[in-house]
Amino acid sequence: MAGREAPFSARTAHDSAPNALYAALEARRRAGKPVTDLTVANPTEPSLGLPYDEARILRALGDPRALRYAPEPLGLESARAVIGSRVGVPSSRVLLTASTSEAYAFLFKLLAEPGDEVLVPAPSYPLFDFLTAFEHLRPVPYPLAFDGAWHIDFAALRAAIGPKTRAILVVSPNNPTGHTLTEEDLEALLDLDLPLICDEVFETYPLRPPVRPARLQTVSRGLVFSLRGLSKECALPQLKLAWTTVSGDDAQVHEAMRRLELLGDTYLSVGAPVQHALPELFAATEVTRDALRTRLRENLAAAMAACAGTAVSALPVEAGWYVVLRLPETRTDEAWAGAFLEAGIYVHPGAFFGFARGAYVVLSLLSPPQEFASAAAALVHTVVRDV
Ligand SMILES: Cc1ncc(COP(=O)(O)O)c(C=O)c1O
Repeated sequence: MAGREAPFSARTAHDSAPNALYAALEARRRAGKPVTDLTVANPTEPSLGLPYDEARILRALGDPRALRYAPEPLGLESARAVIGSRVGVPSSRVLLTASTSEAYAFLFKLLAEPGDEVLVPAPSYPLFDFLTAFEHLRPVPYPLAFDGAWHIDFAALRAAIGPKTRAILVVSPNNPTGHTLTEEDLEALLDLDLPLICDEVFETYPLRPPVRPARLQTVSRGLVFSLRGLSKECALPQLKLAWTTVSGDDAQVHEAMRRLELLGDTYLSVGAPVQHALPELFAATEVTRDALRTRLRENLAAAMAACAGTAVSALPVEAGWYVVLRLPETRTDEAWAGAFLEAGIYVHPGAFFGFARGAYVVLSLLSPPQEFASAAAALVHTVVRDV
């Protein structure tokens, strides 16, 4: 390759050197010191001890119909019908993909040209920077504000819309704030007259009764995409199946589905076994979902109890797998995360999720309750000791 530039695209250039916190984590592990990992997001991790009906899941995946290849661009009609009846839309408005990440890639191809912009919430899901960059789009953040409860800062959102804006991304319940879109939010978003891409992967994990939750599937104006998948809903990320449902103005929905069919036909990325197994997978993971819901609530209560009466506050959570802790601003969130690691607890600093200011850390609520409760207590103790 002498004399030539490296043969790689600029958008795949990525500094893969571990950041200081991760390097400290690795060093601690190498030294054989214990670490409680409160960033864990993989529900199948054996140390979490979540119940899976393994025999039933394996039986479902062994369906002999999967031996035959019968490609359908939007996904198998039988699987789309299962999703349609679960979510409350006709199967003609359902697209299956291997993951929600792939669904984002399809929707960005559907809605935008290279160089266009999409609005992304902040704080939120850290993958948006990559998902947009790989489709040649520019993510423009709009703030979620906290004033005792989380809400969309609509004035800032409107100000972020420009001539190249092609869609608004919403995560509801949001990762990591657990904030859920209300009917009023949805109406206000639809008034902005841009397609909405709404990630609802945590929808099945409410932690307290939602206040007037938005129902995306019944929307009859604009264009609304809702994304969910097995990864969170059945706690089976390794099976690779996600679904997008499309609602809004009939003519626009029809045209969107027609174009998504072309995209789906070009990749045909969802495997047959998982599609045939779908109804059984929902039934077989009832036990896992129930155990998860119980655990999430228990761990959230433990986090709140640990914070009560201290300089740390657990922000209210409506749903999802995470809790955000607000810390004294005597240190940055990265510095706090470093101090917690010294106490043997690994958490994500808020900056990882795009918290613009303040000192926040994010805790996954998936850990076994005893382990979580003692780590949360130790974390709060570290703050109380240091301020
Ligand atoms: C908001 C959000 N969307 C999507 C995903 C991942 O979904 P998938 O495995 O279907 O790509 C995650 C995973 O953590 C997530 O937090």
